[in-house]
Amino acid sequence: MKEKVKLLVIDDDPTVSWLLSEGLGEGYEVLTARDGNEGIKFFSQSRPDLILLDIKMPGLNGIQVLEQIKEMDRLSEVIMLSGHGETKNVVESIRLGASEFINKPFDVKEVEIHIQKVLEKNKLKKELDLLKSELQAKSQYDKLIGESSKMIEVKSLIEQVADSELTVLIRGESGTGKEIVARMIHSLSSRRNEPFIKQNCAAIPRELLEAELFGYEKGAFTGAHKTKPGRFETAHKGTMFLDEIGDMPLELQAKLLQVLEQHEFVRVGGIKNIQVDVRIVCATNRDLEKALEKQLIRDDLYYRLNEVTINLPALREMREDIPFLVDHFLKKYNLNYKKNYAQLSPKSIKLLQEFGWPGNVRQLENLIKQIVVREDENIIAETIRATIVPSETIEEFGAPAGEKEYSLKKRVARSTANQEKKLILEVLNKTNWNRRKASELLEISYRSLLYKIKEYRINETGE
Ligand SMILES: Nc1ncnc2c1ncn2[C@@H]1O[C@H](COP(=O)(O)OP(=O)(O)OP(=O)(O)O)[C@@H](O)[C@H]1O
Ligand SMILES: [Mg+2]
Repeated sequence: MKEKVKLLVIDDDPTVSWLLSEGLGEGYEVLTARDGNEGIKFFSQSRPDLILLDIKMPGLNGIQVLEQIKEMDRLSEVIMLSGHGETKNVVESIRLGASEFINKPFDVKEVEIHIQKVLEKNKLKKELDLLKSELQAKSQYDKLIGESSKMIEVKSLIEQVADSELTVLIRGESGTGKEIVARMIHSLSSRRNEPFIKQNCAAIPRELLEAELFGYEKGAFTGAHKTKPGRFETAHKGTMFLDEIGDMPLELQAKLLQVLEQHEFVRVGGIKNIQVDVRIVCATNRDLEKALEKQLIRDDLYYRLNEVTINLPALREMREDIPFLVDHFLKKYNLNYKKNYAQLSPKSIKLLQEFGWPGNVRQLENLIKQIVVREDENIIAETIRATIVPSETIEEFGAPAGEKEYSLKKRVARSTANQEKKLILEVLNKTNWNRRKASELLEISYRSLLYKIKEYRINETGE
């Protein structure tokens, strides 16, 4: 069965509303509002496919209502109903984005033709957007570079879950591509034509975050001069990307859970439930399990967010992808800066592959950008020397889990062990794992090299 077209008629004249609800027939579901305020309320609650809006009404007039509706949803389709001699209003309505005009008095058949015309145009526009975003999705998809087994796993998981309604949690250190993945999920889903809205949950005060996400009613707090819809409303029918979800204040987590479970929420200072249809994707580089333990995150929310988790590898866990990434970024920045720095020397690539990359792909990308701009790859050594690699990215050998070691002797011993491990791995890679040659270069005996390889659990993947 064909879905009914949801119409909202906003007119103070009951005969107009009556005529339309009775006259339009089976294919329409008509909701009527008697004035502007009621119309706006119904609009935000029921999200009609099309609105028929009278210009002249007591209280809020049609132009004011149009302005507010467009503010809530830029893409909503509104047909204005106008009486005689309202040319000025017609011009203003066009400026505000009305789709059509119908002069009063009208014939219902004529109204139906206009409605069909607007809906048809809307459908074509959506189809065009779909084609565009499919093209974009393709090029965006190409942008997640990496052929290592970990990256292939990530890409196939994205393909599997993109076109579902599952909530996806993307985890990974800073700079590992969490945002690219979130955008990919959206553009590979059937929501691709609808908005992708991003909100970072860290680094803004709780009150502000609440107002941003859920909107507020006029007068809800000092400075709230008019009602403002929140990002969840803007994201209606699309995808909401909540970045740094691990930093969401506890008080807001209950509200988020309500959106996830009941698809509704209340604006700040409001009492009405607002319905939204939003797919949620979130990301974090925090240890959520630790946050859970410390009760910084509600456990019901944690389990609800965890429907699917995509773990992005750190760059040091996919070193074999470094040459591909380098190539990709070289192309990108040569094009951007009209340069012709085609490739790096094998020595430079090797240096890059041995580095710890605390800033992951983002850090690599920035370095390549600088190389292209300055046309000098000697800055690699400089950068590597200048970067402090935190101990977790060196994979500390034999460190006690979780607690800090203050004994100077033990600390130095461990740090020496780490240095040794790194150097041995470097030399082994250099000699293509020719242990005899490596021991010569390291100036230690062959036997002690074998012993150290075993003791430090060094293997060819470098992990
Ligand atoms: N696998 C990849 N292929 C190509 N580009 C990548 C890849 N991973 C990351 N990038 C690039 O690295 C930069 C950082 O990526 P992104 O912003 O998605 O990281 P993030 O995980 O969200 O980091 P943060 O936690 O700091 O916000 C972007 O410019 C992105 O294009
Ligand atoms: Mg990010």
